[in-house]
Amino acid sequence: MDTEPPTPPKRGLARNTAGYGDPDFALYLRRSFAKSMGYSQAMLDRPVVGIVDTGSDYNNCHRTVPDLVEAVKRGVLAAGGLPLAFPTVSLCEPSLFPTSMHYRNLAALDTEAMLSAQPMDAAVLIGGCDKTVPAQLMAAASADVPCVQLVTGPMLATPFQGERLSACTDCRRYWAAYRAGTVSAERIGRIEERLASTAGTCGVMGTASTMACIAEALGMMPPNTAAIPAVHAERLRAAEDAGARAVGLIANPIRPSQIITPHAVENALRVLLALGGSTNALIHLTAIAGRRGIRIDLGRLNELSDTTPVLVDLKPTGEGYMEDFHAAGGLPALLWELRDLLHGDAIDVNGTPMSERLREPEFVDRRYIRRRAEPVSPVGGLVALFGSLAPRGAIVKRSAATPALFETEARAVVFDGLEDLANRIDDPDLDVTAGDILVLKNAGPLSPAGMPEAGYLPIPKKLARAGIKDMVRLSDCRMSGTAFGTIVLHVAPEAAAGGPLALVESGDRIRMSVQDRKLDLLVDPAVLARRRAAWRAPATPARGWDRIVAEQVLQADEGCDLAVLR
Ligand code: FES
Repeated sequence: MDTEPPTPPKRGLARNTAGYGDPDFALYLRRSFAKSMGYSQAMLDRPVVGIVDTGSDYNNCHRTVPDLVEAVKRGVLAAGGLPLAFPTVSLCEPSLFPTSMHYRNLAALDTEAMLSAQPMDAAVLIGGCDKTVPAQLMAAASADVPCVQLVTGPMLATPFQGERLSACTDCRRYWAAYRAGTVSAERIGRIEERLASTAGTCGVMGTASTMACIAEALGMMPPNTAAIPAVHAERLRAAEDAGARAVGLIANPIRPSQIITPHAVENALRVLLALGGSTNALIHLTAIAGRRGIRIDLGRLNELSDTTPVLVDLKPTGEGYMEDFHAAGGLPALLWELRDLLHGDAIDVNGTPMSERLREPEFVDRRYIRRRAEPVSPVGGLVALFGSLAPRGAIVKRSAATPALFETEARAVVFDGLEDLANRIDDPDLDVTAGDILVLKNAGPLSPAGMPEAGYLPIPKKLARAGIKDMVRLSDCRMSGTAFGTIVLHVAPEAAAGGPLALVESGDRIRMSVQDRKLDLLVDPAVLARRRAAWRAPATPARGWDRIVAEQVLQADEGCDLAVLR
């Protein structure tokens, strides 16, 4: 008996036809509308590569996206595909109120929906600024469409009076000096014009750079593309190559679910630690992994941290910039140094296992990528603290902190939120000494503040002017990956969720021990019980995205994703 030949899988424009109840009509209509844009039938018969276009006049870090889209299209066309670019939410760190973090999940939701709903066989994701790459990787992990990640790349540093400047470690360093009265208003104005002189993401190992390296370490981005400067021709060639690779993924699909595995996530954690990378990256990697059901345990983070040296010497913890890292050998050189610590079976977008990606580099500039025998630090950059003040953990970036402050028991000076902080931090009558612990509450993911990068609390002006450069600062918010200091962050549960942080008052004693991984509030339980009885949760916003966040957002140890998206 004859059997019907199997129906070939739907491809290109025939995927995901609109729901008119007649798939043939839906495809007919789709082709007709596509032809109105001037495409020939031969082009419309090609497999489709979607290109996520995050160009925006609000996003300086994505200024080169139009050029990158053109280069990706070139690669797709040359490899036999039809490139179709589409816009998604674009998030620029300093352009958003209350914070870009508040909208990361919106960008992830938008991107996932468009990857899933539109007809495409593979996609190239173009991100760059801090929250865009995490959002795109979260989306890719959920949509599970074969994807190649591309980044805009870092900006170049600018020579200025015998030193180099780049966003944004130098922004903070000079702003702190201006507050302390050692830099004039005229000079801070001149520096403002030189901090970000070329297109691209912040030029230090901040969140954008860390996430680019993590995307490459995970295997979602082609090798040695994380750190290519935004304005180098090599960046455009990487874009063209990303387009061609995406076409290659159509015949031999490798899906994010095959790439983002527990071993790949652990490799990415090793890289994060060896970079001395951004604390934000831990939240983002947790969210990306969470989309594949992989939990990052903070106890395991501590184990990895104790066995992973910091090998990359870039700002904010060292001296170099991303262009130096790229010229020094980039991520492949770092992976080679870490080779015995990595899982060799984790594959990348080419299907190549990590074991085969590891190659001894021809050249490494040891000023920026150290040998294992001569690390920047023998242990990793981040550690998690636990205790009565942070039952689900808090993070400290020890590589950017002052070791003399690691073991501290001190008095808390508490600010109830951002407004209280702004109103009182520089008050000459503020009761504060350099030995106190500055505490900021109500700035976590659930708070109306939207988990800002406010964890780098300014040193009170009167102490800054007396020469104090660092103090222990503690909060439920985040800090920029470009910041530095003895900063304890991501306290979970946060104050707005009723965590113990909500109960801290000025004058309480807090004990922090980085050595013992402890963070405790030294207050009588009966006193805390009285304070808890008087505590009230913040009001839920009336509508819209703010309300969705308030009802759905998870705590820092779960990556601050929305519960419904996990
Ligand atoms: Fe976009 Fe720093 S502001 S990467």
